[in-house]
Amino acid sequence: MTNAPEPLSLVLVGPMASGKTSVGRRVARRLGVPFIDTDKRIVAEHGPIPAIFAEHGEPHFRELERAAVAHALREGGVISLGGGAVTDAETRHLLRSQPVVFLTVSEEAVADRLRGGTRPLLAGDDPVERWKRIFAERRGWYEEVASASFDTSRRPMQRIADEIVAWRREQG
Ligand code: S3P
Repeated sequence: MTNAPEPLSLVLVGPMASGKTSVGRRVARRLGVPFIDTDKRIVAEHGPIPAIFAEHGEPHFRELERAAVAHALREGGVISLGGGAVTDAETRHLLRSQPVVFLTVSEEAVADRLRGGTRPLLAGDDPVERWKRIFAERRGWYEEVASASFDTSRRPMQRIADEIVAWRREQG
């Protein structure tokens, strides 16, 4: 009897606009596993993120996010988390012993990606300045939960995805 290889799962974390969704989709396709974006799951169940923040506040969003992460981890696949998921201690606890990849991006590269966005935490003047401050506050948490990091600033997303797939396969 031959055993089919275990499907390879992994989690992507990183700041807003670091490419988690674009890279994640490609990694999932290459690994032949489902792609799960926890933000999309939250929106599908609870409506748009800016409305959740406005009506119920960020702590409520973090609770919904924690539940979405727990659910996604039970299902398996390539799981992309919102940039702030790591701010929640229980969510960080859920990520222990998971293969977690931290996507980094430079300030210069992020400026273009943030144009025209609707992220509530970047609303107002100078979204890049806000992004920088938030990233600086969270960097330690990304490093705490992740076992590898890849920079998405300048290279084609497919190349980065291929490197992550190679890394994941090495982990076994
Ligand atoms: C957030 C990031 C967003 C989304 C929400 C809050 C954050 O996801 O979860 O707006 O706190 O950094 P992306 O990282 O996909 O933008």
